[in-house]
This record gives sequence, structure tokens and C-alpha cells, in this order.
Amino acid sequence: MAERGGSGVVPLRWSGEALWLLDQRRLPRREAWLRYRSSGAVARAITAMVVRGAPAIGITAAFGLVLAAGALRRRGRAAGLAAWRRRAAVLAAARPTAVNLAWAVRRLEARLAGGAWATAAEARRLLEAEALAAWREDFEANLAMGAHGAALLPARGTVLTHCNAGALATGGYGTALGVIRAARAAGKDIRVLADETRPWLQGARLTAWELARDGIPVTLLADGAAGHHFRQGRIQAVVVGADRIAANGDVANKIGTYTVAVLARQHGVPFYVAAPTSTLDPGTASGDAIPIEERPGEEVTACAGRRVAPPGVPAANPAFDVTPAELVTAIVTERGVLRPPYGAAIRRLLGAAGGE
Ligand code: MRU
Repeated sequence: MAERGGSGVVPLRWSGEALWLLDQRRLPRREAWLRYRSSGAVARAITAMVVRGAPAIGITAAFGLVLAAGALRRRGRAAGLAAWRRRAAVLAAARPTAVNLAWAVRRLEARLAGGAWATAAEARRLLEAEALAAWREDFEANLAMGAHGAALLPARGTVLTHCNAGALATGGYGTALGVIRAARAAGKDIRVLADETRPWLQGARLTAWELARDGIPVTLLADGAAGHHFRQGRIQAVVVGADRIAANGDVANKIGTYTVAVLARQHGVPFYVAAPTSTLDPGTASGDAIPIEERPGEEVTACAGRRVAPPGVPAANPAFDVTPAELVTAIVTERGVLRPPYGAAIRRLLGAAGGE
């Protein structure tokens, strides 16, 4: 069973035959693993938040594309490829905001187009090797981001984070939490304030769980309490992840991130975004063009499975917001730290790697 740890937490496992996902909806109460054997079921699991976090859903989709290789059987190559692409399109559409789903599909599609294969079994082996490579590279990117980002944090202080950008949201280790982990490993005395992150409570359920397991001091905040803590001078830096970073450096991340960024600017606190280059989307000019996922209002009118709003009252439930590039102090990637102006920095970074 392929596994990639880092702080002992992983969101997925691959057996060669099936994909196993840690059901994040049930954490921290239960560690339940669910088995998936078809790409359609994997797409539904992504939509249902069994697995979440931009890099983690990208890697999950990559293994979903391996499971979709059955479509390449018993048909001519062109018909088989068309059927595989239809399954890929379903995976890519499972959630709209994170660019990592489309990134995974593009990556595995290119492997299929560029690889030598004659049978569905050979194609499946190519796809599997690519999915495993994407997973390994994401994990390694997190370690590199950790090293770059840790250098930005003070020797001692409190860092605010929003949502969960940890091992559970990635191939292991984490982006924002990877930076915090690396800073602690380097001997910095970093404490964490974690926004609870309504309505899915990724901060309360997942970030607090991961950090507590690692023995990193973490205190939970109701989302609305962040401003008070900034005003009291209790926050020295903010580190968050990203679901998509547009060509101009605008950042889409969990709803509430923009509010934190405005507060950080108001209080002169640096606001860092940690994200792998797979989250950069040079094809999207600015945050205005990033599709924002709208989820069911019932996720807001209820809390922990119980309705809290009066019957008949609707709720708006955008899952993400956009933080304008001008509020971002630096973007930490595995290839180094980007500073404004981000348009030029992103072009240089991707150009240097031979990217788009
Ligand atoms: O709705 P979610 O839980 O998938 O949202 C996750 C986030 O917003 C994370 O901050 C982002 O994906 C970065 S994860 C490294």
C-alpha cells in the first residue's frame, strides 16, 4: 500500500487496485477509511468533502484517473480515449475553485498522450506511475515550502491560520501548516491561532487535530474573534494556503481568508500564502475570473448536523473568497518566495521552469 506521511497524517492510500480516503468529515472523532474503485465514486467523494484541500483533491483525482483506465479496454484507441476523457471531465468538475483538479487531468492526459502503450493495462501502469509521481512531488514541494516559509517567521510569536492547509489537505506535511511545522523543527517558538472556519469547521476539526498530534501549541478561535486578537497585538504573522492563484497574484482560498487579510493589513501584520506551483493558474488573469464554489445553504443553517436557523431562512454559502494580491506580503512556493509585483514574479517562475 503506497503511503506518504509527514507528521504521521495522510489523506489517502493507494493499494494498486483501489484508492482509500480518510473520511475527513468524521475527524477528529473517528479515523474511518473508505475504499474507492471507480472514478465516478472518487468524483462524488471529492464533492462530498470526504477528501478536501486543493493539493489533496488534485492527487485524489489523479488516482481517480487511474481507476478510469478501465474505459480504455475493449474499444478502439480513439473510442477508449474519448470514454476516459469523459470520466476525466467528471473528476475535473467535482469542485470548481481549486485549480488542482484540472491540473491533475492535464498532467495525466499528457502522460497518456506522450507514453508508449498498446493495451489498457499498459496505459493504466503509465497513469499509476504518474499519479504516484504527482503525490511524491507534492509531498516534496511541501517540505521545500516549509524550509522557505519558516525563514519568514519570527523566532518567537503567534501565527494565525485559516481553514486547514495541513497534511490532510495535501500529499502530506502541508503548505501553511508545513511552514509552521518547519519553523518549529528549526527551533522557533511558534504558537498557532486556528480559526474554526465555519461551516465545515476545518480549523476546529482538522487543523487543531493535526497540530495537537504534533505537540504544536494551538488555540482555537471563533471566526469572528480574529479582529480582537489582531487589535490586542497577539498575532505576528498569518499563513494560509490557496486553492488557486491567478496570474496577477490574487488568491482564492477558504471563505473568510479575505477578512483575515484585511485585518492583517490594518494591523501591519505580514500575510503569507503558501502554495505549490501547481496552484498557480497563469491562464486566469485575476481573481475576478476564478469560479467560486457555492455550496448548499443547509451547511450554514445547520451546525454539527443540527439545524440552528429558523425554518425557511435561506443561507448564502460561498466556499471560497478572493484576497487581492495587494494584501499578500509574499507567496511561498517550493521554488522560492515570490514578492510583489506578482504578475512578473509568477511569469518568471513559470517561465524558468518552462511552464505556460
Ligand atoms: O473546502 P476545502 O476544505 O477544500 O478548502 C480548503 C482550503 O481552502 C485550503 O486552505 C486550500 O485548499 C489549501 S490546502 C493546502
